[in-house]
Amino acid sequence: MSTDLLFSPTRIGAIDVANRVAMAPLTRSRADMDGVQTPLAVEYYRQRASAGLIITEATNISRQGRGYAYTPGIYTDAHVAAWAPVTKAVHDAGGKIVVQLWHVGRMSHVSMQADGAAPVAPSALQAGGNVFTEAGFEAPSMPRALETDEIAGIIEDYRNAARKAKEAGFDGVEVHAANGYLLEQFLRDSTNQRQDCYGGSIENRARLTLEVVEAVAEVWGADRVGLRLSPLSTAIGDTALDSTPMETHEYLIRRLGEMGLAYLHVVEGQLHGDNGAFDIKALRAAFNGKYIANNGYDRQRAIEATTSGHADMVAFGKPFIGNPDLVERLRGNAPLLEAPATSYFGGGAAGYTELAAA
Ligand SMILES: Cc1cc2nc3c(=O)[nH]c(=O)nc-3n(C[C@H](O)[C@H](O)[C@H](O)COP(=O)(O)O)c2cc1C
Repeated sequence: MSTDLLFSPTRIGAIDVANRVAMAPLTRSRADMDGVQTPLAVEYYRQRASAGLIITEATNISRQGRGYAYTPGIYTDAHVAAWAPVTKAVHDAGGKIVVQLWHVGRMSHVSMQADGAAPVAPSALQAGGNVFTEAGFEAPSMPRALETDEIAGIIEDYRNAARKAKEAGFDGVEVHAANGYLLEQFLRDSTNQRQDCYGGSIENRARLTLEVVEAVAEVWGADRVGLRLSPLSTAIGDTALDSTPMETHEYLIRRLGEMGLAYLHVVEGQLHGDNGAFDIKALRAAFNGKYIANNGYDRQRAIEATTSGHADMVAFGKPFIGNPDLVERLRGNAPLLEAPATSYFGGGAAGYTELAAA
């Protein structure tokens, strides 16, 4: 099977990419407590600029949207000033970079919120799992259900973050609607028990995601907006699946396709697990646009996915942590280094930009 396609350029919406290997979003928890990136992040992303497209680590759209210590934000001028040298470094090295826009919803802790407030969610249902705070791992706090008239403010927070992302020089944005965070909490009937126009029917549960996409597309143009989904994953927050995941996601994906989104990015299975028995190919077919596949891909599967037409790009997560030059290694079929999981979250240069010292 020809390897050429994986390493050939293509166009994702309005973004020209040099190859079809994307860097998946990877939280590394090395910003300061105000969500301001340090110069280390400039070096980290510069090292990985040979990826056709870098999708940044999940980046908070507001103080309320924050659930984990040391994660970056994109809602203040200080955030913009810290991200601008990152986008410049990636562009100078010939790469492209979009920022992943994040609101964690109920996956937060009172210590991460202004004045110790409760995190917000579609419904007052506490998540399982844990979040990382300054004091270490904690159970997510009991959230409060958002009032209907608060939701417009959250959409405005997304719009503000999209504007800030533009000021910081990104090539576009990826709306994070995956992995058990706010937008997925609205989408799934396991976490959304609302009675208003954001709950109940599939149309109502998909409404917030579509309104957010509409708002950020007004800033960027839809052809510079991507969206990430994880229809089969329960990993974050022990979030139960939707009762009809195929129908729910098919509706959302069809609507997103009609909006002319730059791309759809799917975690094709259980995050950090296998790919399940779900008909991902049928879902992909519901989206008449560019598609980025992710979850446990290796070189061979990535070549097959692009050659068969299943995916326009393949996103690699963990392999990019230990192999900044992943594209070159895949091209030459060279062995990959495995970064220790202890270096994933928090700390300094070791295991981040300095791999030998990990
Ligand atoms: C350390 C780490 C941090 C992650 N952070 C994010 C994130 O910020 N946003 C997101 O959507 N997914 C995140 N993920 C999930 C990855 O993007 C990806 O879906 C997952 O690692 C599976 O792909 P892989 O098998 O190529 O690693 C993270 C995964 C890891 C291991």
